[in-house]
Amino acid sequence: MAILDILHFPDPRLRTRARQVDTVDEQLRTLVDDLLETMYQAPGIGLAATQVNVHQRVLVIDISSEQDDPRVFINPEILEAEGHEEMDEGCLSVPGIYERVQRANRIRVQALDREGEPFELEAEGLLAVCIQHEIDHLDGKLFVDYLSQLKRQRIRKKLEKQRRHGEDDPPSGQHAEPVI
Ligand code: NI
Repeated sequence: MAILDILHFPDPRLRTRARQVDTVDEQLRTLVDDLLETMYQAPGIGLAATQVNVHQRVLVIDISSEQDDPRVFINPEILEAEGHEEMDEGCLSVPGIYERVQRANRIRVQALDREGEPFELEAEGLLAVCIQHEIDHLDGKLFVDYLSQLKRQRIRKKLEKQRRHGEDDPPSGQHAEPVI
């Protein structure tokens, strides 16, 4: 297993639309395991392959506090979405930034698991938000896209300044908000 480098906004590679996975084989399972390890180490509760510059439709999530409930979604598709949920979101690709985003509160999603078996899942609250945030990554979309252009510009400048000064990523574990 390996810790992979996470791309940061405004890296244009984060705008790539990921391809469907054709075959769930050993190589793909290695990617899944690397994504999980990278997410746990960050630490975050979700990570999409796009964020590590692999443009295949794969994402991992673990919203448990003990990091012992890994969920794998390959070729995820939202079948139904309803209600509204608003929470402050963070993102491993937008380090140190937390902003309120509105999403559906309940979703039904279908995907393949780590073995390539299809499954369906109904999710609500944080898990539903997390799945929507990660699927956005696979479509080249970031949570800052839901904010005003002015706010997005400010975030961009702040991150570029941090990078110029060679600051480390702010530790994400100190925040109550989910870092997805
Ligand atoms: Ni994210």
